[in-house]
Amino acid sequence: AQVNEENLAPRAPVVTIMGHVDHGKTTLLDYLRKTNVTEGEAGGITQHIGAYQARLDGRLITFLDTPGHAAFTEMRARGANVTDITVLVVAADDGVQPQTIEAINHAKSAGTPVIVAVNKIDKEGANPEQVMNQLMAYDLVPEEYGGSTIFVKISAKKGENIEQLLEMILLEADVLELQADPTVPARGSVIEARLDKGRGPVSTVLVQQGTLHVGDPVVVGNTYGRIRTMQNEKGVDLKEAKPATPVQITGLNEVPSAGDRFVVMADEKSARAAGEERAKRAREEVRNAGSVVTLDTLFNTMAEKAMKTVPVVVKADVQGSVEALVGSLKKIEVDGVKVDVVHAAVGAINESDVSLAEASGALILGFNVRPTPFAKNQAQADKIDMRFYSVIYDAIDDVTAAMKGQLE
Ligand code: GTP
Ligand code: NA
Ligand code: MG
Repeated sequence: AQVNEENLAPRAPVVTIMGHVDHGKTTLLDYLRKTNVTEGEAGGITQHIGAYQARLDGRLITFLDTPGHAAFTEMRARGANVTDITVLVVAADDGVQPQTIEAINHAKSAGTPVIVAVNKIDKEGANPEQVMNQLMAYDLVPEEYGGSTIFVKISAKKGENIEQLLEMILLEADVLELQADPTVPARGSVIEARLDKGRGPVSTVLVQQGTLHVGDPVVVGNTYGRIRTMQNEKGVDLKEAKPATPVQITGLNEVPSAGDRFVVMADEKSARAAGEERAKRAREEVRNAGSVVTLDTLFNTMAEKAMKTVPVVVKADVQGSVEALVGSLKKIEVDGVKVDVVHAAVGAINESDVSLAEASGALILGFNVRPTPFAKNQAQADKIDMRFYSVIYDAIDDVTAAMKGQLE
């Protein structure tokens, strides 16, 4: 069931939309859904599904309807690299905000190209040029300023330049030369899943290789079953789904998790055996957890993994502290190993910080800030090491000592 070069065919790009609160992500997705998906379907019921496709000139684009940055990184942490392109929405009347920066760092850490949608250009006080200038500080340099980042000025509300945005996504997709082999047994990732009273576990999955068929025996994370029904985002029953197609499936024994991988097996018996084996291993992994980097184990982990950099996430109460801490951290070097600041921002340690730390194996350093209750629980569950300081020198000392294996 190996992917065969000769069978590779172009596939649709998979796009995630991210950005600061109220900058217009949902409005943009709604506009796309309205004009591209339900078009010409009077009376058709559009049900919620975590992903859907838009069409331009006969070409498809798959959009993932992620509820937040944390979810995006959570999926990556589970090994699901589903996103090809990130669309960063920035409101032209509000400019770059904390979650804009957070989104940029999530996208960078995932290694996806970023297309900037400067939104709300219809508003009085909109200043798209200012957004372009602000983003240059984050290595997002517009083509007209000699850089390579695509910026599209849009109004999600009025539908202005949305077609241009879709064109740019397709252009970026052409550069990426996205391909998949539709002939192998299907595999892909779970986008979201829930328990439906009548239908049992219902999952939105993205097919990434091969073609998924009704009746296929599958193992999905620690769950298994046979595809009983398969529908697209319009609620239309499908018999098969090709690469980059999101579909809603039923027929699993239990509800899988977002980010779980699925694989079609030869028969139901082997799917069941694989699912049960994985469930057993997952229970053991929980018992043996502790593979994440902590300051206490950093020295040994560095040696074991031959680490070149020690990833950290920095949160502080004021911008001046963020800069001072990041500046000092970047100067640390122990036996050629340096500190890599994955994300640094002002504010409490939130859920998104913890997800990013989990995905990148980072430590979290808080300076005069605490975690939100939710982030605290998540960090405990994920065994992320969070350290709190009120003296910058102490933070630098601890990290340096840990890297040298001399932490007290
Ligand atoms: P969260 O999901 O809460 O992070 O917000 P969001 O990014 O999804 O923003 P949302 O789409 O909810 O838009 C926030 C507000 O901005 C709403 O009142 C929208 O109507 C408005 N809005 C979004 N896009 C535009 C636009 O292009 N022009 C104008 N004038 N208003 C817009
Ligand atoms: Na909103
Ligand atoms: Mg929204």
